[in-house]
Amino acid sequence: MEEMDKKKMARRAHCVVLAYPLQGHINPMLQFSKLLEHQGVRVTLVTTRFYYNNLKRIPPSIALETISDGFDQGGPTHDAEGHKAYIVRSREVGSASLAELLEKLGRSKDDHVGCVVYDAFFPWAQDVAKRFGIVGAVFLTQNMTVNSIYYHVHLGKLRVPLTEIEFSLPAMPKLQLQDMPSFLLTYVEHPYYLDFFVNQFSNIDKADWVLCNTFYELDKEVADWITKIWPKFRNIGPNIPSMFLDKHYKDDQDYGVEQFEDEECLEWLEGKPKESVVYVSFGSLAELGGEQMEEVAYGLKECSRYFLWVVRASEETKLPKDFEKKSEKGLVVTWCSQLRVLAHEAIGCFVTHCGWNSTLETLCLGVPTIAIPHWSDQTTNAKLMADVWKIGIRAPVDENKIVQRETLKHCIREVMENEEGKVLKNNVIRWKTLALRAVAEGGNSYKNIVQFAESFLQ
Ligand code: UDX
Repeated sequence: MEEMDKKKMARRAHCVVLAYPLQGHINPMLQFSKLLEHQGVRVTLVTTRFYYNNLKRIPPSIALETISDGFDQGGPTHDAEGHKAYIVRSREVGSASLAELLEKLGRSKDDHVGCVVYDAFFPWAQDVAKRFGIVGAVFLTQNMTVNSIYYHVHLGKLRVPLTEIEFSLPAMPKLQLQDMPSFLLTYVEHPYYLDFFVNQFSNIDKADWVLCNTFYELDKEVADWITKIWPKFRNIGPNIPSMFLDKHYKDDQDYGVEQFEDEECLEWLEGKPKESVVYVSFGSLAELGGEQMEEVAYGLKECSRYFLWVVRASEETKLPKDFEKKSEKGLVVTWCSQLRVLAHEAIGCFVTHCGWNSTLETLCLGVPTIAIPHWSDQTTNAKLMADVWKIGIRAPVDENKIVQRETLKHCIREVMENEEGKVLKNNVIRWKTLALRAVAEGGNSYKNIVQFAESFLQ
């Protein structure tokens, strides 16, 4: 089919992209929406009513709709009980609300909704898609090693509470207890966290496509293994704003969720020598204990490098009283444009909680890491960063699971001053090249997106 015809046909195809109401989920799905749109598919991005106001801007060509997840007034709470309530209520209310939306969109004469791409945290969307006789594609926002661990729990092949200390799962490196997603370790106290993550796989065998925000080389072994189980598994990442990736998609604007844009830090970075600044962020959710906060604060104050540290407003009271928030040596901000910061040549190292988006971002921008994982998938990501991709080091913890200030200072020296740091930098640049290649025209993720989009032409 001629290129133009394909585009015209696809114009009439319409994909609903249903995102889970969290920054780390909406942002990659929005990027994916842009890529679909670039292939000529019309996209309606859907979020929950409560979360709607957090969306800063979305590209004008992408329509935005909301559904109710049953928590329109306050949104879900992210504690264990909140997760339990959310699984039940979002399924009931969300299914009905999504069905209503599909009916409404279906009344349009210009196009038809041919597909629902849904966050794996909303597995019930697959049933709604089937009721409407349309394609259902599940979108996994975490990496395939982590997904595959949860999938093993879902299958009953990995039993909780865990009784072993080392785990050999298909296509994965050997994992120690500290490398497993944290909710497997806290199952006895908080079963609902794990239930919530395992619930992602409750409908997966019915999905027409299984999409994951990663790229082939990064999770090659797991990807090959899982493709035998889910033949329609496809890597479609990294879903990072295009202005930081392939020039082919060059965008001048940022879209998505931004809590607060702080240009002060970009000004502060100006003039700092190349690769001289440690960037520190623990993401959008993690809450550090007071002692850990203090150790990080003094570790940064006493280290030999500049630092830029994101301390969310809700965490600020944990900073030591005498801690200077702005000086020549360091700057503390409540939020920043992380991609711009990581892309800045003054940044030499990223002290990270290893959230999946931060992991992909540091990799795409070629910044080596010091991993201080907090919970969830972050522990597994830290293991992969340090021992598989070899782009960083995992900061050792003491018997109380605290990274002491001396340890942090030592890690900063290792990454920014020692020979090992040069090896990490070379490795991360190699991964950066592979990541960019995956999403560039002809790359593996690019081809998968084209193939997925073309399935709407049939
Ligand atoms: C959550 C979970 O904690 C994580 O384990 C899971 O993989 C995804 O969902 P979050 O804490 O939000 O993640 O971390 P991450 O996935 O790294 O996403 C944070 C996002 O916020 C990144 O895109 C990052 O660029 C952005 N960010 C962070 C900013 O733009 N500015 C900041 O100051 C800090």
